[in-house]
Amino acid sequence: MTNPLIIKNKIKKFNKAINVSGDKSLSIRWVLFASLADGVSKAKNLLMSEDVIAALNAIKKLGIKSKINKNYCEIYGKGFDGYKYKKNLEINAKNSGTLGRLILGLLVNTNHKIKLIGDNSLSKRDFKRVTEPLGKFGAKFNLKNNKNLPLKIYGSKNLSPIKYLETKGSAQCKSSVIFAGMRTEGVTIIKAKKSRNHTELLCKYLNLPINIKKKKKYDEIKISKVKKIRALNYNIPCDLSSSAFFIVLTVLSKNSNLTIRNVNINPSRIGIIEILKKMGVNIIFKNIRIYKGEKIANIKIISPKFLKSIYCPPKLNSSAIDEFLLLFLVAAKAKGVSFFKDLSELNQKESPRLKWGEKILNKMGIKTIATKDSIKIFGNPNLTITKKIIIKNYLKDHRVFMTSVVAALGFGGVWKIHDKDSINTSFPNFLKIINKLKI
Ligand code: S3P
Repeated sequence: MTNPLIIKNKIKKFNKAINVSGDKSLSIRWVLFASLADGVSKAKNLLMSEDVIAALNAIKKLGIKSKINKNYCEIYGKGFDGYKYKKNLEINAKNSGTLGRLILGLLVNTNHKIKLIGDNSLSKRDFKRVTEPLGKFGAKFNLKNNKNLPLKIYGSKNLSPIKYLETKGSAQCKSSVIFAGMRTEGVTIIKAKKSRNHTELLCKYLNLPINIKKKKKYDEIKISKVKKIRALNYNIPCDLSSSAFFIVLTVLSKNSNLTIRNVNINPSRIGIIEILKKMGVNIIFKNIRIYKGEKIANIKIISPKFLKSIYCPPKLNSSAIDEFLLLFLVAAKAKGVSFFKDLSELNQKESPRLKWGEKILNKMGIKTIATKDSIKIFGNPNLTITKKIIIKNYLKDHRVFMTSVVAALGFGGVWKIHDKDSINTSFPNFLKIINKLKI
């Protein structure tokens, strides 16, 4: 346990350019694809956080070695059927829903029993959302309370393709089924509500047998059995969800501007940018380029003179799903009442984030009215915090910690923020970059 972080002063104006660390979704996906590839894959700028290290440890348990070098990571794939299954195999997904849910899709086709465990937070999360569709392929599961970790998977050599309707806008559910489809003879057909599409883009880049039809609200994905994956060298772009802390810090600061270089601006991830623009923030994408199917840019943010409240269109929910805690802070500073709805998925994250969003705002003295899936935020552009605020999140949600730091630096007051170590889940460099902006 580390000491809590104490913040007593607002951040002063800054004018800086920064890089944040590699994209978490892409880093975990790269590890999983490379673990199935023929030969050595290399990644630069792989996120070196606990979630990604858990992915490297998971493939190690399956007999796939990796090596972390100074500037790149190597994975020594043994081909699409190269996993080795030891007796009583146990995989620990730690805090990572992405790892836990995606890897299950790859384990449906072995008839060895495998146990999947996770930390306290992951063990509270819903795994039925993936075991239900994966069960239809022919795998069997045994879950704690019928929906939680620890779980046991008993795969099958006799899988049948499925038709799957994904209605939550969850990329983890969609990707888990795509992975199981890659293991299964025949055509798996997925109709999925729009969500981040990194798995599909990697499948396309690797020339795997995937076909995607984009409809207005849904994507129709057809995936067939994969025979071979070629080694995949990847230069991981920076994470928009990690950038978001600094984007919002700039929005809450006076007379500042910030450039964040080489960020993944995949259209299925940029909900935060679209929402902030609607609230009156000037955000510019510079040097837009395409890398292996992903869209990348440098992002420039300028502190706004005033912020408008927003009625947030639910169609942006999935593309901003990891950024709502931050967006609630922006709404707290906006003039007028903001409304965010259809957000039940927010309470399915590392901690119940809709509840946490409300808790942080109320501690700051902001009035809110929340239901189980919506929140009304009564903004106050002149907010000054006089009380001491203590944030202690027993599920150690990394985004609750980092959002609280942004709130403390953006709004002022005296904050005591516990669970500093939680940044290691997704963004170990977070506080170093914060300090860079202070100098
Ligand atoms: C992720 C998908 C999202 C997101 C998570 C990463 C991914 O979860 O919240 O941080 O990499 O696929 P859901 O798919 O459950 O919405």
